[in-house]
Amino acid sequence: MLVNNSAVGMGGYPRHSILFVCLGNICRSPLAEGVFRHVAEAGGADRLFRIDSAGTGAWHAGSPPDPRSIAIANRHGIDISQQRARRIEAADLTECDHVLGMDRSNVDTIRNAFPAHAAKVHLYLDFALRRGADIPDPYHGGAQGFADVYRTIREASEALLARLTVDIASRPVSGQASSTT
Ligand code: 4NP
Repeated sequence: MLVNNSAVGMGGYPRHSILFVCLGNICRSPLAEGVFRHVAEAGGADRLFRIDSAGTGAWHAGSPPDPRSIAIANRHGIDISQQRARRIEAADLTECDHVLGMDRSNVDTIRNAFPAHAAKVHLYLDFALRRGADIPDPYHGGAQGFADVYRTIREASEALLARLTVDIASRPVSGQASSTT
């Protein structure tokens, strides 16, 4: 679900557009979207970002997140119940700066489907934490799997925010020359 869609964030800085992707867009990537938005809001930085999520598959298109993802988010004061699943599409690859797959299979699927944009597709934990690990699919497991996914996503969200806010601060303000010499 896309909430904030304008192209330029506060202070004239260009917005970072981030798409979180998993298989079904009902368990991991809705949590990644909601938790990152929450962390960015808490840091007063949400206006710098355009945040969305999608799945590589369309089986759950139009559905709200899995009740177990809604429940673990709620437990941490985050409401993701209004999100609706959708499948990733070509426009996402042209419009987003960073497409972050929850596991290697997601990354491979996206890169194979959109090879011209492979360079902006990353494994989430590798991009955020320099940790080349998957966020495992909790769909066929129990509540503990969702709690583990939440904890990992929370850690990655905070690292991602730190990484991207440094990156944004180093960019020239839009419309301003980058050199005065
Ligand atoms: P997600 O989890 O990719 O984290 O949303 C899954 C949700 C549904 C299915 C697989 C994974 N499924 O097979 O329906």
